[in-house]
Amino acid sequence: MELLERLKALSDAFGVAGHEDEVRELIRGMASPYVDSIEVDPLGNLICSRGEGPTVMLDAHMDEVGFLVRWIEKDGFIRITPVGGWDERLLLGHRVVIRARNGKKVKGIIGATPPHILSQEERKKAVPLEDLFVDVGAKSREEVEEMGIAIGSPLTIHYPCEPLRGGYVTGKAFDDRVGCLGALEALRITAEEELPYKLVVNFATGEELGLRGAKAAAYRINPRVALAIEGTIGADVPGIPEAKQPTRLGAGPAITVADRSIVVRPKMVEFLEAVAREEGIPFQYKLPTYGGTDAGAIHLERGGILAGVVSVPCRYIHSPVSLLYLPDLEATVKLVVGFLRRAEGLLR
Ligand code: CO
Repeated sequence: MELLERLKALSDAFGVAGHEDEVRELIRGMASPYVDSIEVDPLGNLICSRGEGPTVMLDAHMDEVGFLVRWIEKDGFIRITPVGGWDERLLLGHRVVIRARNGKKVKGIIGATPPHILSQEERKKAVPLEDLFVDVGAKSREEVEEMGIAIGSPLTIHYPCEPLRGGYVTGKAFDDRVGCLGALEALRITAEEELPYKLVVNFATGEELGLRGAKAAAYRINPRVALAIEGTIGADVPGIPEAKQPTRLGAGPAITVADRSIVVRPKMVEFLEAVAREEGIPFQYKLPTYGGTDAGAIHLERGGILAGVVSVPCRYIHSPVSLLYLPDLEATVKLVVGFLRRAEGLLR
């Protein structure tokens, strides 16, 4: 499978935070040829291990932002509540997929009031999320329930991953399926290498709800060093000054110096810079201090864990469509592989 096909499979998989089963099984299949053991912990983290010795941990989160069914109206319309941070202005008129109790996918749309019957004032305002409704083409609550949809059923806005032109690709869940792909690629590329430590890759649950899976997994894994791989905020778009663009597409992987969840120790930042320079990989810094990642939870576990973050810049994350530039993803994979080949230097 080409890189783009793997990205598509991962981005298209369903994995609203707390309901990561589908994406977890996909990743389990992709990782299993390259690791010695795989376990799923009580929070649903997929923990893949290889080798012996002190532990180096990679982390990427499987979950994506989405919604839960909050209420089903008598006339069959569905009210929803967000899982993770959504921009309420962006939601009207999109297609959704609801995962019913029986695992079946039910298609729906987020309904909008036709502009014809809105006042001038109403047209200018975003509709609050609590007033939104999903239409699955049902006449009654009973009909919705018969589809296996219940209070708490997860749903996500679904746009299939597809390439645009010139190496640009769009998809719904690059945050953080690009990180998952980066970790999988690093496992695949180093599969035949004898690394002088135990490598554990955690595919985490619940990041979008507050770094939940990674916190529990870091305690269990007890690594000496950890690296989180993310799809982060690319903001090189009109109207945003360069000083407020956390990352830019086409400038390579982003090394985090500080975000809202961690100030990365200079030792780690300098190590990642050195790897990039030695490998001839262009890189950028993620401007402080936007967003947070699993490294924020991991570095506080046990007696404190040395942790860093590298990210693939992605425009429009936490919206129904994100956009990345494939050479950034490829360079991020190279940086992670270079990190693994040298990580022993951080264990001394
Ligand atoms: Co993320």
